[in-house]
Parts: sequence; structure tokens; C-alpha cells
Amino acid sequence: MAFSESRERKWWKAMAALGVASLLSAANLSFAAYRPLIPRANFQSQLGSLSANRQRESYTPLPLAFTAAALIAAAKRTRRSAKELDVEKIRADFPALNQEVKPGVPLVYLDNAATSQKPKQVLAELNRFYSQDNSNVHRGMHALSIRSTEAVEAARAKVSAFVNAEGPEEIIFTRNATEAINLVARTWGSANLGPEDEILLSVMEHHSNLVPWQQLAQTSGAKLKFAHIRPNGTLDTDEWESLLTSNTKLVALCHVSNVLGCVNPIKWAAERAHSVGAKMLVDACQSVPHMPVDVRELGADWLVASSHKMCGPTGIGFLWGRADVLRSSPPFLGGGEMIDEVKLESALITISHTSLKQAPQPLLKQLL
Ligand SMILES: Cc1ncc(COP(=O)(O)O)c(C=O)c1O
Repeated sequence: MAFSESRERKWWKAMAALGVASLLSAANLSFAAYRPLIPRANFQSQLGSLSANRQRESYTPLPLAFTAAALIAAAKRTRRSAKELDVEKIRADFPALNQEVKPGVPLVYLDNAATSQKPKQVLAELNRFYSQDNSNVHRGMHALSIRSTEAVEAARAKVSAFVNAEGPEEIIFTRNATEAINLVARTWGSANLGPEDEILLSVMEHHSNLVPWQQLAQTSGAKLKFAHIRPNGTLDTDEWESLLTSNTKLVALCHVSNVLGCVNPIKWAAERAHSVGAKMLVDACQSVPHMPVDVRELGADWLVASSHKMCGPTGIGFLWGRADVLRSSPPFLGGGEMIDEVKLESALITISHTSLKQAPQPLLKQLL
């Protein structure tokens, strides 16, 4: 994929148009431009991406020969795309790569699944925003506040379109994916789970998609259950299905495993969860940077991802939640710009509004 002049110009224009508050959207733009680099630089992610392309929503194990053939094809494709990509030009966009780890040894960075480097366009936009637009979002009437607020809302609309949400009100910005998962555990989870209930996870979950549920289980009395993996490194879907009962209230599963690179059958798991009356959270930290993610197609109830793994800044992530589910959740953190009326002893919070636009506001405004 060549990074054509017109696309590059468009990208720069978009960068210039957005404030720092739109950095998640900048991450998406930069990610779209740099997407082919990321799998190339990270073998684990490459496996995820490969199986994503070949097995979309399929959990049938690949025979060894097919896997080898697929890897060779991927290597050829990578060589081809490396030529088309003008790797040197793209590499020049990442200031962090322009250094030597010791004299004569250039830095090679392969840790993109943990966090990606930032292109200079993202760094420039951060600098521009703090130099020119920085101000309070949603809480000021002056020019800078209006610009910042518009940038946040533009970013929300971009992220919403990026994952094909029903609308921007389904996107809640958080500090990272970890906070997004904690938000669900401590709002919807605390309000809805009790001692009779069960939470189903897989053993391949990142700690961020494990510890919040352990904490919820401790406070609510709910029971944790775990599905294991097959010898070939994929989810044991038979075990997963057998662990679902009428007591299962919540299931949480990664879309692409950061440990194994396998792609989990999210659409199937969401259907199975809903068939027993459970809700489903998807940890999409490793899939959103590497493959198209369509929340409506997947059919789960929440999905989380992070900017810092997709060439965007550190310190921002998002929670997508189905509007009706967000509407029925209590607020997470109390604070400014989430209340209709506040007194010394109590506050009337905006969650009491019933319209779709207003309902998720307490969750999102307090986290901006
Ligand atoms: C699968 C997965 N989930 C969650 C996380 C945590 O993401 P964050 O750093 O945005 O909290 C990571 C980070 O490595 C991850 O790989």
C-alpha cells in the first residue's frame, strides 16, 4: 500500500484540524497509515493479523502445512508490501527509531503489541494543541474551550465510525483499556451481579481483563469460571459453551490474544452469551490495531481498546457500549459536569435524563 500524496495531505489536514482531545482519532488516522508496519514489526501480532485475515471469526485450527504455507505467503506479502510501502520514508516519521542503541547499532523496535511508537505528526499535533487550543472541555464559553470541545466530539465521532458504532454517544473515553474494563466492572457489574451469579473468562486473558473481574467477584460474591485453551493454542470452545449456565451473568473474552495471537470467535460467543441471558465484554486491545472491528457485526455489549498500541498518544483509550446498556449503568466517578443540581449533601446526576444523548454523559464527561 503506497502512502499516496493525496492521502498524506488529507492526513496532515485532518491532523491540523483536530485538537489534542482528538488524539485517539489521530491515532486511528496514523494507524490507518502505518497499519502494514505493525504486523511486520511484531511476530505475535503478525500471527494474529494472519489468522484474522484467514479465519475471520473462525476457530477451526489450521493444519500445520496450511499454517506454514500461510506464513510463507505472509512473508512474501510482507516483502512485497515493504517495497510498496517505502519503509524508509515511513521509518523517518518515527523520531524514536532514529537512534542507535549503542554506537553503530540502530534501534529495532519490536514491542508494538505492548505499545507502539508515535509518528512525528502525532507528536506535532500534541504540541500544537497544548500551544494553541488547550482549555476546559464542555465547561467554557470562550473560543479555546469551544475549539477543544469540538475536537473531543470530532474524535468521538471518528472513533465511533472506526468501530461502526450506532453513534458517538456509544463511545466513552477512558485513560486506557484497563480503565474501560474497570468502569464496566464497577458500574454495571456492581449493580447487577450477586452471589448466585457467574462470570465466564478464558485463561488467555490479559491481567487487565482478569483482575477487575476477580475484584467484582470478591465484592459481589459471584463465581469466576475459566475456559482453557486447546493444545494448538486456540480457545476450547466446547468447554466455553459447557461452562455457560442460566447463572452466567457476564462473559469477557479477548478478540485477539496478546499471548497466543489467536483470534477468538466473538460473534459466536456473544450469541451464546445472550442465549443464556448474559452480557459480553470484548477486550479488543490487540484486534483494533490489526484488523477491521465492527461492533455491530460482533454483537457484544461492550468493547475496549487503547490508543497507545496504535501509534496514538499514551493516556487515552475507549469503551464502546451499546446505548441501552450504557443507559442502564450507574455513573463510575463522581465529579464536575455530571450533575443537574448539586447541594452540599447530595447531587442530582445527569444519568436521570432518559434521552440517549444525555444518558451516557456522566460516564463520559467525567472521564475526559
Ligand atoms: C489483550 C490486552 N488487554 C488489555 C491490555 C491493557 O491495555 P491498556 O494498557 O490500554 O490498559 C493489553 C496491554 O498489553 C492487552 O494486550
